[in-house]
Amino acid sequence: MKALADIVGSEHVLVDSDVKASYETDWTQRFTGSAVCVVRPGTTDEVAAVVRACVAEGLRITVQGGNTGLVGGGVPAGGEVLMSLTRLTALGDVDRASSQVTAGAGVTLAVLQARARDAGFDVGVDLAARDSATVGGLVATNAGGIRVLRYGSMRQQVLGLTAVMPDGSVISRMAGLEKDGTGYDLMGLIAGSEGTLAVITEVRVRLVPRYRARAVALLAMSSTAAAVAVLPGLRAALPSLAAAELFYAPGLALVRKHGGLPAPFPEEHEAYLLVECADLTDPTTQLVAAVESADGLVDARIADDASGQRALWAYREAHTESISAEGVPVKLDVSVPITSLPALVEQLEPVIAGVCPGARAIVFGHVNEGNLHVNVLDSGDLHEEVTDAVLRLVASLDGSISSEHGVGRAKVPWLGLSRSSTEIDTMRAIKRALDPAGTLNPGVLFP
Ligand code: MLT
Ligand code: ZN
Repeated sequence: MKALADIVGSEHVLVDSDVKASYETDWTQRFTGSAVCVVRPGTTDEVAAVVRACVAEGLRITVQGGNTGLVGGGVPAGGEVLMSLTRLTALGDVDRASSQVTAGAGVTLAVLQARARDAGFDVGVDLAARDSATVGGLVATNAGGIRVLRYGSMRQQVLGLTAVMPDGSVISRMAGLEKDGTGYDLMGLIAGSEGTLAVITEVRVRLVPRYRARAVALLAMSSTAAAVAVLPGLRAALPSLAAAELFYAPGLALVRKHGGLPAPFPEEHEAYLLVECADLTDPTTQLVAAVESADGLVDARIADDASGQRALWAYREAHTESISAEGVPVKLDVSVPITSLPALVEQLEPVIAGVCPGARAIVFGHVNEGNLHVNVLDSGDLHEEVTDAVLRLVASLDGSISSEHGVGRAKVPWLGLSRSSTEIDTMRAIKRALDPAGTLNPGVLFP
């Protein structure tokens, strides 16, 4: 501990168990593990020195950003040094010429968005945990969120990285080159590697235009199939389409219960699709024209003012917190080819009931990517059985067991459902080549 205190200052090495506790458990309360200490470096050089000191002592490191992850990837298994990157908050001015900005790993998404918006730009990725989720964590997990339809996931927003390698050496490509054909895409590899290959300390982020004219519609649909079927027409008619989010009556009921929200429609409906358009001119007129003749549309509300839009988004964005307010759920994040989405939704309930009668499934997600968040409440001590049954169903539909939350610790036993043994061997070979001592994030991604 003395070596770490010499690097970051003793006030940034936390050993008291009460102080460490908030870092050692994830916010969903599902993953916990004790760290020998929490170390909070403030610069890339300090991160590198901390890594070298840990390697010298044979200590392993768990890397943590805003601790908003949903698969336990930022929480120690037990016995690691927990390196929190929340002090890496340096944030550059927006570079207008390139539409880019440089952000430290500990900058939260909300702060990054504010910086971009002040300069007339925006960030391509957005998600409900924006006030706590950090840039480093977003890149490390290749986070998705609610704008993937238009701008892609976090990896697509990365034009440069500085990262500390597992031996304490540093790679830095921060020129923000839009084109760079000089060999392997190391930034692309580190993005989404969940802290197993390198510690990201700063990111050159691509910015997107800020569209002030926005329109949001909540569509009541007759079925999942109708919600899926309406999408190609919306994408074709609306170049300004930015989000298409799906949820169902049980999730809406929870959100209303915990948020005290009014019913969006006089009747309850089978499926709800929240869509958002944003552009420079008149997205409301375009959105109305695009949805009015959609098959399977039963009712609709459209908001063209900010407070009305916030009210509609609340039905979707409050899902995660409302579910957690009910209890500790089994939280799964899966994707299937979009044509298989109705089949997945149809089979989920019987499959879950088959292993855990009485469990409640709350399902919502990002329909364009075939990405559903399957949250199962009241599953008692059958978390593993429920997980296994749902993930096998997803694999039978050619889906992914983790769409946007990563593998972390939670999905490790099921990785083989989504990746062939040759793929897993290749990933292991990369891990061994870059981190032969297994210093970074042990127990994450691989058993
Ligand atoms: C979301 O889309 O809201 C997030 O992925 C969070 C969640 O799955 O709970
Ligand atoms: Zn999501």
